[in-house]
Amino acid sequence: MSDKKFSRTLVTCALPYANGPVHIGHLAGVYVPADIYVRYLRMRGEDVLYICGSDEHGVPITIKARREGCTPQDIVDRYHRIIKDSFTGLGINFDIYSRTSSKVHEKNASDFFRRLYDKNDFIVKESEQYYDPEADEFLADRYITGTCPKCGAEGAYGDQCEKCGSTLSPEELIDPHSTLSGATPVKKKTSHWYLPLEKYEPWLREWILENHKEWRTNVYGQCKSWLDGGLLPRAVTRDLKWGVPVPVEGAEGKVLYVWFDAPIGYISNTIELLPDSWEKWWKKEDTRLVHFIGKDNIVFHCIVFPSMLKADGSYILPDNVPSNEFLNLEGDKISTSRNWAVWAHEYLKDFPGQQDVLRYVLCANAPEAKDNDFSWKDFQARNNNELVAIFGNFVNRAVVLTHKYFEGKVPAYTKAEPVDGEALGQIPALKESLQKSLEAFRFREALATAMNIARIGNKYLTDTEPWAVAKTDMERTGSILYVALQICADLAVAFEPFLPFSCEKLRNILDVCICAGTDHRAGEAVTENTYKEGECAALHTVSDAAATCPGAGKCVCLSWDKLGQRDIIPAGHQLNKAELLFSKIEDSVIEAQIARLEAIKAEREAAEKAKLAKVVAPQKEQISFEDFEKMDIRTATVLEAVKVPKTDKLLKLTIDTGIDTRTIVSGIAEYYTPEQMVGKQICILANLAPRTIKGIESRGMILMARQADGKMRFITPQEVLVNGAEIG
Ligand code: MF3
Ligand code: ZN
Repeated sequence: MSDKKFSRTLVTCALPYANGPVHIGHLAGVYVPADIYVRYLRMRGEDVLYICGSDEHGVPITIKARREGCTPQDIVDRYHRIIKDSFTGLGINFDIYSRTSSKVHEKNASDFFRRLYDKNDFIVKESEQYYDPEADEFLADRYITGTCPKCGAEGAYGDQCEKCGSTLSPEELIDPHSTLSGATPVKKKTSHWYLPLEKYEPWLREWILENHKEWRTNVYGQCKSWLDGGLLPRAVTRDLKWGVPVPVEGAEGKVLYVWFDAPIGYISNTIELLPDSWEKWWKKEDTRLVHFIGKDNIVFHCIVFPSMLKADGSYILPDNVPSNEFLNLEGDKISTSRNWAVWAHEYLKDFPGQQDVLRYVLCANAPEAKDNDFSWKDFQARNNNELVAIFGNFVNRAVVLTHKYFEGKVPAYTKAEPVDGEALGQIPALKESLQKSLEAFRFREALATAMNIARIGNKYLTDTEPWAVAKTDMERTGSILYVALQICADLAVAFEPFLPFSCEKLRNILDVCICAGTDHRAGEAVTENTYKEGECAALHTVSDAAATCPGAGKCVCLSWDKLGQRDIIPAGHQLNKAELLFSKIEDSVIEAQIARLEAIKAEREAAEKAKLAKVVAPQKEQISFEDFEKMDIRTATVLEAVKVPKTDKLLKLTIDTGIDTRTIVSGIAEYYTPEQMVGKQICILANLAPRTIKGIESRGMILMARQADGKMRFITPQEVLVNGAEIG
């Protein structure tokens, strides 16, 4: 293509964790864009290798296995299958989809570590790690649970509280215990190998910040902030039983950290596929390496993995790392653990034959520059109003009318009118723009451009009304349909990267095939680096395809180069029967999907309520009426509020109590800003003995209620009352 520096492109997709199925967030973020890109490059005749596989190590997989009472291998076997089938079902056909539990990978990752180890690229550091004395195992942060110090929720993990979302370290947990045995973890010394990332910092700065200014702003920005923050040595080994064993002496019970071995998996899978020629893809400077990933993977693909490759010294580095933001579902974060997702394998079951609708919606809505939302209503609208009403409707009208008036034979173009040129004349520019967008990884924009070609077709038929012209002028009718059929062929090319299933259907209808690069209608062979040998025939649907194509010169072959040309399908070519490319999705279908999600939400809310009920503190010891009467509780209004200097939590409030104006110091600053407090009516305990806090005398206390999330809210009357009203 444009960049002559490169002779081939190696495209990798983030290896999905085999601890759950893939969902629309994964698809929109990584796999749909990568697939569009690869299909496009192949249509342009580029030499492309497309690599993926399951990421089968890491602590979450061992935890899931323990919870289900099976082995980690059982878990990854189950999900590897589901994920692999989902990709195939959606037309995402990697050249290889392997897995990091493979033998080839174990050896390759092990050798990789060993090479760096032998060159003294690692440093060894001793540290204290949590250890379960009963189970006799070191504990990953995830294996330690306890009470969240931030919100009080039980069952927070050593790295994160799922309730309040805080990032934690095991030290912070209240009452920590091991999920293996329930024992209280103790600290124990252990040694690990670290990659000294700081050593690579100057080089990374130049490589990314100077030489890759063209990377997406989100990617470049994250890299810059990591680099500006300063890099530290990163441990590349762990005390764990599941993973690639560390291949050096004295490393018993240690495995490679999952983020060390997983990206090496890209290389391993290439080796597995091409044991004799893999090096060409990873070590030759004229190979262009592109990693498709989600935004949570940026640091690993732009900083850590490149540093590993650089340390080795014999590998090429990524030329680009297109990374998307996140997709939400119906306004809520997609989450595997909360079962808030549309799963690829379930979609394929619920919407058979409609893979392209999902591909279309996920691309049209891709979170390229910011997080985006998937909603079932939008899914339905895009199908019904765009795929059906524009693309499908246009093709159907053109083909049905050709059958009606011309027995399905492409009519001759003998009676031109300016409107024809106006329609066809727009397409070359759209093709240019489509190419530009695709090559810059702007897939949403590219898809919109392809759709504009269908819009041109639709408008052309509406403007020319061949069904009306047919009453008086068959020659002109034929010319109109000829033009419309050329646009149909353009669509079969332009949409091929995005909607491969529908384009195959469309090729069937038009009875054409698609080939990369060269036109072999004239007898040229399909080149090796394009659609592979025989693939043209496979895509070809004419009954005698195998005999005549490729190279025999009988069939009508589409290719990217043909897009926008005037005579793609010649007059006299026989079409097949019309068939609907897309069908309307009914309300009931969408409602069923929405109901499924609502049921999940309701279930979750019920579970949360049940948990909340547990959080509510038990009743305190009884008191007498006299005890109660001693308390002077009143309404009051906040007149002023300022932060107490050098504290995070305290506000100094000036309060009109109805009796006087006084000062109360309250630990309310965690929950409210001073601005939020001024003017608010509150309730106070007025006769609490004065206390001096940070040198300020505080007279009284503000009544607050603790919420289940641990946050405090002040109590305010339903309606504004006089200040000083006694409460009791
Ligand atoms: N499994 C990781 C994730 O889903 C991605 C791994 S990408 C690789 O976030 F490079 F490490 F393979
Ligand atoms: Zn918490």
